[in-house]
Order: sequence, then structure tokens, then C-alpha cells
Amino acid sequence: MSSSAALLSPDSPRVSAQLKQEGYAYLPAVFDSTLLRALERECDEMAARHYRVENIDRRAVYLSDQTPTRTSHAMMLSQGPSPLPTVSHEGLEAVARFLRFHDEVLGGLLGAEVPASSRSMLNWQTYLSGSKPVTEHFDGEYIDYRKDEDGGFTLHEGLLPRLVVILTLSNENQGECQGTVLRDTLTGKEASPPSRPGDVLVFDNVRMRHRVPTLEQPRRMAGLRSFDFQAVHFARTEASRRPGANYRRMPEGLVSEDVDAVAVHQQFLRERWAQVREAQRAEGALF
Ligand SMILES: [Fe+2]
Repeated sequence: MSSSAALLSPDSPRVSAQLKQEGYAYLPAVFDSTLLRALERECDEMAARHYRVENIDRRAVYLSDQTPTRTSHAMMLSQGPSPLPTVSHEGLEAVARFLRFHDEVLGGLLGAEVPASSRSMLNWQTYLSGSKPVTEHFDGEYIDYRKDEDGGFTLHEGLLPRLVVILTLSNENQGECQGTVLRDTLTGKEASPPSRPGDVLVFDNVRMRHRVPTLEQPRRMAGLRSFDFQAVHFARTEASRRPGANYRRMPEGLVSEDVDAVAVHQQFLRERWAQVREAQRAEGALF
């Protein structure tokens, strides 16, 4: 981390206030170029080590999105052993540091220590010029979703991470929109914070939806979010509510903060995942 990181302690009151007020916090130049280059290399190493059909089958690695102008990878990690599927990042110091940073930000902002067993999804994406846009969405573990005709999808049930942490690795885009566009579901207001190499964007993934429009120039990013630690349960309608949990209404549906996210995930893996994976196979999406 650069010296500015010390001034921007993840749980600092300024970050917390900005997040509460705006739904996101923009932290410029948190990581230096040495860390960024190391993280790029280590992400490639993670793909080489773990992008295997058996890891996708056990839900430790998610299907990669590969188009000529955008490549994306996603894998589950934790600092210590987890009862849920993960892949190892042993010996990868930059990945370990980014994960610690995420867990500190999350714990600091939620006022509780993130256990070492708590997993986060690490994803990294490369956008080339004229990249295929990413339609607006919440990040999450999608337990039930339906594809829409416009290429997007509607989430019916899922686990939403409270926060998403995005780190820009490289970016040649300048001007108004350099990457992620956030939309506040409460006010409809959009924001597009700068995305310079080393910048971190932390956003409230329950309040804000996000998208990435077509980018004119190349950009690389890495992100982390926890599906386990205080993730909220999302139900589009009453039918997907979990018994005994309290829900509040939000524009897209209902959310509950008192559902055990790990238990929901374990049940999903036991009862539903095989069927979802079978459907992926039927579509030819082996890996
Ligand atoms: Fe996303």
C-alpha cells in the first residue's frame, strides 16, 4: 500500500460517512503500481491454477465470461479454512493483501470482525476497446434468476454482499465515465467516480445497482465482495422469503439482514446447484 493508505484507514469516519450519504466511497490511489502489477500477475496465476471443470462443478470457481472485448474470472477465497467451497491463494501475496484489505474495510464499516472462514468472491476483468457493456445488476450469489430478452436478467432470490470493493489495475479511459456507473435505487441518481490505477471504489451493494458501459479504451480491474459475512437475503416477492426472517421493502423487492447466509448457501449447494450446473452443461457451458 502507498503512504496514502495509512491516511485512508478503511474504517475511517470519512469513508463511513461518504458511504452512508452517497451509497459509495471513492478512495483515490490506495495501492501503488508494484502491488497492481503483482496482483495482475497473481490473478493470471489463479486462473492457470484453478480454472478447471472440477472447481466449477463444486462451485469454488464461477464460469468465466469470454467475449472478444471482455474477459472475466471469478473465484471464491477466504483467509482461513471455510465450510464452503474455496480455492487456495497460497503463496500469492498481492491477492492475500487485497483480501485482507477487503475484510478490514467490510469489518470496519459493519463494526464487527470478519472471521477467517468468511469467503469473498475475487473477480477480475479485462475490458478492451469497444467492450461489451455489463448491464445493470446487484452483485450476489444468484440462487434464482431469469434471463431477460434485452440480455440482462432479473434476480428472484439471492444473497447480496453488503459491500463491493473494486480496485482499478489499469485504465486508459479518460473523462466522464472511466468504468463503473452506480445508480442509487432510492433516489435514481447516477454516479461515475474516477477509476485511475490504484483507486478503490467501495459501494453499498444493497442500495446501489451498477453497470459498466462500453469502454472506448482498455481497462483492468479486480473486485472482492463477501457472500458469507452479513450478506443479506434478497427475495423479489413474498414467495421467496425465508420463514422466520424479517424483511424490509426496497425498490427491487425485499431484503432481510437476519438470514444466515452461510446456511442458505449450503442449502443451495445441497438442493439446487446440481440442477443449475446441469442446465449450464446443457447450454454447452462446461467451462
Ligand atoms: Fe458487478
